[in-house]
Amino acid sequence: MSKPRILSGIQTTGNLHLGNYLGAIRNWVEMQSDHECFLFMADLHAVTVPHDPAVLAENTFKVAATYIACGIDPAQSTIFIQSQLPEHSELAWLFNCVTPLGWLERMIQFKEKAVKQGDNVSIGLMDYPVLQAADILLYEPDSVPVGEDQKQHLELTRDIAARVNFQFGSEEKPVLKIPEPLIRKAGARVMSLTDGTKKMSKSDPSDQSRIDLTDDPQAITKKIKRAKTDPARGLEFDNPERPECNNLLSLYQLLSNQSKEAVAAECKEMGWGQFKPLLAETTVEALRPIQEKYHDLMSDRAYLNQVLADGKTKAQAIAAPTLAKVKAAMGFVQ
Ligand code: TYM
Repeated sequence: MSKPRILSGIQTTGNLHLGNYLGAIRNWVEMQSDHECFLFMADLHAVTVPHDPAVLAENTFKVAATYIACGIDPAQSTIFIQSQLPEHSELAWLFNCVTPLGWLERMIQFKEKAVKQGDNVSIGLMDYPVLQAADILLYEPDSVPVGEDQKQHLELTRDIAARVNFQFGSEEKPVLKIPEPLIRKAGARVMSLTDGTKKMSKSDPSDQSRIDLTDDPQAITKKIKRAKTDPARGLEFDNPERPECNNLLSLYQLLSNQSKEAVAAECKEMGWGQFKPLLAETTVEALRPIQEKYHDLMSDRAYLNQVLADGKTKAQAIAAPTLAKVKAAMGFVQ
């Protein structure tokens, strides 16, 4: 029996933060021994907003190094760069021609990001979820492990696959496999440190709102010290009136690898003055081995290049036949 396949990726814009780690990468690491994993750096997605050519390539290496530093093993999982496989862009074009405009106009992330861009919104930003659908469907994965914010994009992916199957396939012979989203409860929505009702995000203008995986111990401690809290006594999960409290406790739970019940009991009587140093220390210790490995990897470019070249070959072996299948079903010259 072959292992179930998963595919996921992260956009190569800026540093990765605790949300990317707890919502995505950590779950991939847990799954990699009993899944066939395809994990990529979404650098084509990174250019949907204005970008700096001088740092794009470096950001791609940083994300690759972060995957490996967090525990993705290149001997077990396929790690590759999206832009090195033209199959992604080509399938996105084919999907563009079957996707109704109205489906894209409804995408929450597009609406949010478009507002921030003003008049400069690119077609690429709107088309972003179609490219994402191509990223996914090329590899025929069983499931796609992501954080909660990607749910709508995964629903769109399924809709596009179903439409292609309906228009160009048959029930007995579907063109594309329809994958399942995999959104874990814990860590799926890590919130901002400055506002517990907003998700932690690379695009938040305030650096205080997130903990980057490369932040040093002083920065981590300072950000947690300044994190928004509330005046209530004792700490608790799941009180809708206390979103910051739930978020900080959840971070502690995930980073200390404890059960929710154990953390609820440990922190029930604590005040912020006692809890914040505990969370800061736990975060620093959880990130320390990741950071050490990350810095080693970033100074070994030859190794990273080899991993990415191998990843490209392995990814292409799956992506190229899927693209060929779609083109054949759509009637292109064979
Ligand atoms: P991106 O780069 O915004 O985020 C990468 C992953 O991190 C998760 N994530 C979070 N999880 C919990 N709490 C948060 N605050 C948080 N912020 C981010 C995201 O849910 C995601 O799993 N469009 C995608 C990249 C992409 C992709 C794909 C993903 C392109 N093609 C195909 C899966 C499959 C994105 O921008 O994610």
